[in-house]
Amino acid sequence: MARRPLVVGNWKMHKTSREGAAFAEELLALGLPDGVDVALAPAFPALESVGRVLAGTSVALAAQDVFAEPAGAYTGEVSAAMLADLEVSLVLVGHSERRRGRGEAEPELAEKMRRLAERGLTPLYCVGETLEEREAGRTLEALARQMEAFEAFGEPPGSLVVAYEPVWAIGTGRAATPALAAEAHADIRRLLAERFGRDAAADTRLLYGGSVTRGNAAALFAEEEIDGALVGGAALEPGSLLEIARAAARSAGRD
Ligand code: PGA
Repeated sequence: MARRPLVVGNWKMHKTSREGAAFAEELLALGLPDGVDVALAPAFPALESVGRVLAGTSVALAAQDVFAEPAGAYTGEVSAAMLADLEVSLVLVGHSERRRGRGEAEPELAEKMRRLAERGLTPLYCVGETLEEREAGRTLEALARQMEAFEAFGEPPGSLVVAYEPVWAIGTGRAATPALAAEAHADIRRLLAERFGRDAAADTRLLYGGSVTRGNAAALFAEEEIDGALVGGAALEPGSLLEIARAAARSAGRD
């Protein structure tokens, strides 16, 4: 069974609405390969302008976060319904910059995924150990703890995607080696299988994230367990993201 590769560009707090739309136009003009799904995750203010450019194309619109409540008096927050209304299809949940910087933990992240599933949106659930956890031999324990966000789900919320993003590799230029990433992916898939069964686990796309570049993408994608990438810094330039998408398509033998 072949999982179709997926490459997601996470712009974080970069690119205004205008800059995002210009990027999307440039990326489409370059032409994307077949055999890979590509998504862009702009900041909330750029979702509408980027979505307008991507409408009717093969590139999906993603969001970087969602609030855990469906609606109400929550100043500054954005609901799953608001994202669905903008034709967002994929939403990051539990990025380490939110787990650490904003104190988000599993119970809240589970609620976020529940809100997304209610609206038919796909969660892109991020997990990954800190350097301290890895050095203490507690990587699997950290991953298992983060996967507890699925505890209340009888089946995967929506068409789930999981990203393995070791915290020490994000934005550091120190990507995990393909072998290390593949080992963590195998652990994550095993944890998914224990919870949701082998078939659901086998169908779930597992992305690697953390200093992915056009230089190291092919080696990472050569690992069968790695179904694509969640890309930060290297997704800020269209040509760079395109090269990573091409490497993913090649790994699936479709470019
Ligand atoms: P990076 O970020 O590619 O800049 O390391 C990845 C991420 O945080 O999703």
